[in-house]
Amino acid sequence: MPARRTRRVPRHVLVIGGAGFIGSNVADAFRREGAAVTVFDNFSRPGAAANSRWLKTRHRRGLRVLHGDILTAGRRLRRLVDDADFVIHNAGQVAVTTSVADPRTDFQINAAGTLEVLEAVRHSRRRPPLVFSSTNKVYGGLDGVPVTRRGMRYAFVSSPRGVGEDAPLDFHSPYGCSKGAADQYVRDYARIYDLPTVVFRKSCIYGPRQFGVEDQGWVAWFTIAAVRGLPLTIYGDGKQVRDVLYIDDLVRAYLAAFRRIDAVAGEIFNIGGGPANTLSLLELLAMLRELTGRPVRAHHEGWRPGDQVIYVSDVRKAARRLGWAPSVSPAEGVRRLHAWVAEHPELFDRPRAKKRR
Ligand SMILES: NC(=O)c1ccc[n+]([C@@H]2O[C@H](COP(=O)([O-])OP(=O)(O)OC[C@H]3O[C@@H](n4cnc5c(N)ncnc54)[C@H](O)[C@@H]3O)[C@@H](O)[C@H]2O)c1
Repeated sequence: MPARRTRRVPRHVLVIGGAGFIGSNVADAFRREGAAVTVFDNFSRPGAAANSRWLKTRHRRGLRVLHGDILTAGRRLRRLVDDADFVIHNAGQVAVTTSVADPRTDFQINAAGTLEVLEAVRHSRRRPPLVFSSTNKVYGGLDGVPVTRRGMRYAFVSSPRGVGEDAPLDFHSPYGCSKGAADQYVRDYARIYDLPTVVFRKSCIYGPRQFGVEDQGWVAWFTIAAVRGLPLTIYGDGKQVRDVLYIDDLVRAYLAAFRRIDAVAGEIFNIGGGPANTLSLLELLAMLRELTGRPVRAHHEGWRPGDQVIYVSDVRKAARRLGWAPSVSPAEGVRRLHAWVAEHPELFDRPRAKKRR
């Protein structure tokens, strides 16, 4: 692949799905770094309008927010890609439960939609670097990996470093399948068409601007429910463990991918909190009890099919190749998320738009 660029910050970033939780934070951060930013979003996610207003208030210049759908944008999307020197693809159907209820729509948005984005990049003049948002769900349930219970959490018996990118792919759920298919397409477009693409297989990302619901975005959902005194359901014993990554750390990973694109084009990275930044549901409830000063209203129900008791990413490849590592601890990140929710009751006052099923 020929050397492409040496800029530290892109001139113009296209953030697809840029009114979502991750997209709006990324758009804000790149704009603050000096890049011009175009947000492209169909506003299907509750909270997207609020995120868009927030972005426009913060950036009166150098930012535009466009309404559109990756499935139907066609040439318009290609023109937008042509104008960008970095594309971050974050648009997606994001909930496993929704994918089970409506696998066709899930496939359309996540798999076919990503193919549309890839084709737009392939047919563009500039062929800018593209980073795709995949998920740790491509590794499936990790059945057969021995786990044990310690206090308020599960732990791997061995695998202290977590799950690496070389773990076998085992797509679980329609969401896992649609994301996994897109993940492989994005990688293959680097091989077959020589496009500078990168895949980020993310674990739980959390932080301000995340309008979490029971089905997706559990750290934010627990925080919103705790602040607002809403009842929570814990499926299973609550000792389930995930590695969690604060949004600002993810933003740094995007910047690192842009800066090192010549070295990392075609690569896949696990991007998560890693073994140093894990949280169980019960541990999060305890943190929220401290922060709110009152117990959280939670009741238990049985395990949901396919729930993993533990997932932790091995993020050493990202450390080696991107020079990146998480820096915000769960205690600090949850404190910041809690502050955002508590300081913005207006964002959560109205009954939330219908649940994403
Ligand atoms: N948040 C996480 O913990 C996490 C973990 C793993 C992977 N991911 C992936 O990262 C991406 C962003 O996640 P998020 O948490 O910011 O979700 P989000 O729902 O807040 O953002 C997704 C955005 O995409 C938009 N969108 C959906 N379909 C679209 C379409 N057809 N055309 C244009 N825009 C569309 C939505 O309106 C929304 O603003 C998703 O692809 C998700 O699957 C997120």
